[in-house]
Amino acid sequence: MSAPATERDAVGVFSPGRARILARTLRQDRWWLSPLLTVIGLAAFVIYATVRSFVRTAYYSTEYHYLSPFYSPCLSESCVPGASHFGTPFPELPMWIPLAFLSLPFLLGFRLTCYYYRKAYYRSVWLSPPACAVAEPHSRYTGETRLPLIIQNSHRYFFYAAVIISVINTYDAVIAFHGADGGFGFGLGNVILVVNVLLLWTYTVSCHSCRHVTGGRLKHFSKHPVRYWIWTRVSKLNTRHMQFAWITLGTLVLTDFYIMLVASNTISDLRFVG
Ligand code: FES
Repeated sequence: MSAPATERDAVGVFSPGRARILARTLRQDRWWLSPLLTVIGLAAFVIYATVRSFVRTAYYSTEYHYLSPFYSPCLSESCVPGASHFGTPFPELPMWIPLAFLSLPFLLGFRLTCYYYRKAYYRSVWLSPPACAVAEPHSRYTGETRLPLIIQNSHRYFFYAAVIISVINTYDAVIAFHGADGGFGFGLGNVILVVNVLLLWTYTVSCHSCRHVTGGRLKHFSKHPVRYWIWTRVSKLNTRHMQFAWITLGTLVLTDFYIMLVASNTISDLRFVG
């Protein structure tokens, strides 16, 4: 909440000792472009993923066993036959519960608390601040020290859940090597599923929490050569974490969209074998 006008001179960028600049920023470049593109990109993904997660149509190709990542794992009797790779321990679900109700909240929590996405939406959605040398509209900054933002500290636990979900996605991709008449087969859908799952692993493993899990709290790297080796690899991937964050949003949409086209018989899968 903005501070009353009388307080405004005493806090934030209006504190005593800060330069007295009346303009919001002196920047002349298009500093607003990056936050704007971020908002558009994130909003497009959220709208697409929300719609697709609830519609319950064309998420599984019975012929080729392709399962959309937005419906994995499918564990209820509402799932179409064949889509439940781990059985159906749950009864029929009402339409307002997504079929992947067990994984979606964890995936959402993982992305929402991700260090990169925090930076993206703090800047682009909350304008806190929107760019370097551009004053934020909020008068006070409390950081992540109290509710609700203290919840961001749960990221490491979402990381463990994301690892389990990545294993499930990997299983989905492996058992999709299925021919139309049974037995082994593969087509373009398999390539898309495998590339998607590899990139999901890359995004997950490049997580800051993974870096801490592999090499954190060590006093002497020389006494832990294996952990040190893993930590150096994870650290290298970590420098590209932002790129993997965006790429995997794209590959998730592409994978679901392709499976939707095949499962609805809008297009035929390009088959290489079987
Ligand atoms: Fe981005 Fe962990 S920091 S997923």
